[in-house]
Amino acid sequence: MSEQQRPLALVVLISGRGSNLRAILDAIEHGELPATVSAVISDRATAGGLEYASRHNIDILALDPADYPDRESYDRALQGLIDAFDPGLVVLAGFMRILSAGFVQHYRQRLINIHPSLLPALRGLHTHRRAIEQGLGEHGASVHFVTEELDGGPVIVQVRVPVLPGDTAERLAARVLEQEHRLYPLAIRWLAEGRVRWQDDQLLFDGQPLQQPLQLNSNALQPDR
Ligand code: GAR
Repeated sequence: MSEQQRPLALVVLISGRGSNLRAILDAIEHGELPATVSAVISDRATAGGLEYASRHNIDILALDPADYPDRESYDRALQGLIDAFDPGLVVLAGFMRILSAGFVQHYRQRLINIHPSLLPALRGLHTHRRAIEQGLGEHGASVHFVTEELDGGPVIVQVRVPVLPGDTAERLAARVLEQEHRLYPLAIRWLAEGRVRWQDDQLLFDGQPLQQPLQLNSNALQPDR
């Protein structure tokens, strides 16, 4: 097998239930994603996703921030754990920590995140509630490369979800999450296949500069351009 065809080794970082992790593992199992999950690491030992991963015989690790004096030392320890698995891509899947600049720089161009909004709109927390409060007609999720700027790195692909009359934050979150589960495995697949690349400060899709994020349409596993 050539280097090009080797499955992309992922380390996935989670803080909670891990439904996006599950979507990634399902896609791998169904042959839809040429990747392997080498390890799942959490900042919370009780994260539901850890148990799920261990049932799938994946290495799991928990690293408690309370054991470290500051963010930098925690992130250095986390980096040591991750690097032991030599991943091609580090995947943040509901990892609810702000990352230090050194950590982000170490994984430049191989660290991605999924965020529940149409970035650059609604960076930060409570995005579903804020979408309703602001009377937005449309909400969604974005997969982006991580940079030092919080929720600010280049966006690869987004999925749009209408905000419906009478929506609560919970109902809207559930509809967005369903779409996240399609979006994240697909974005990782494009990275694994080399279709998406970040080169010289420019995102490329199939070798062409991407001027704006790809949009996942509601039916097909193909991007609208
Ligand atoms: C997802 O909705 C993800 O987009 C969000 O946390 C949830 C994790 O759910 N991430 C962020 O808000 C990051 N800023 P999961 O644990 O079921 O995958």
